[in-house]
Amino acid sequence: MVVGKPFLTVEQIQKRVRELADLISKDYDGREILAVGIMKGAFMFFSDLVRVIQSPLQIDFLIASSYMKTESSGEVKIWYDIREDVSGRDVLLIEDIVDTGVTLNYLRERILMKCPNSLRICTFLDKKERREVDVPIDYVGFEIPNEFVVGYGLDYDNRFRNLPYISVFKKRA
Ligand code: IMP
Ligand code: MG
Repeated sequence: MVVGKPFLTVEQIQKRVRELADLISKDYDGREILAVGIMKGAFMFFSDLVRVIQSPLQIDFLIASSYMKTESSGEVKIWYDIREDVSGRDVLLIEDIVDTGVTLNYLRERILMKCPNSLRICTFLDKKERREVDVPIDYVGFEIPNEFVVGYGLDYDNRFRNLPYISVFKKRA
């Protein structure tokens, strides 16, 4: 059950996505980006963001998960890996939400082993107070409190990903 009004509205989200895209386009200054979306959660953010980034850009995906329902299992499983050769590339890793940081830290180290020219991380949401592993994040859409949220790609049990806004999720008592 999804409660309350949107925590982040469609308008707030689209405004912030444009701001992030402008920052990214400025920072990369004409260099080609290899944008890697972490699926499934980042699919909506990823497609909105790459549409408004003005740098030359290639895309790739990886499918990873570390979460069972609302509890973190602490293990990361890769279901589908990056197909492009990342060595020498300017990689921008795009995530839906950073919670403990376990997933992103694992993926970051895995990509760094393949010797990209640079690796930056962009996350739509950041639950900073939950952080257990310190992972450097270059672009954050919104910092949010410790609530479980769904929508705009984020799920509970693979549901609610299609909501165009972010809502706080509470299980029925
Ligand atoms: P971490 O490894 O603990 O940082 O977990 C990150 C992953 O957990 C994210 O990529 C999401 O898939 C999932 N996750 C964490 N918090 C939430 C939430 O509030 N809603 C939906 N998924 C979440
Ligand atoms: Mg995710």
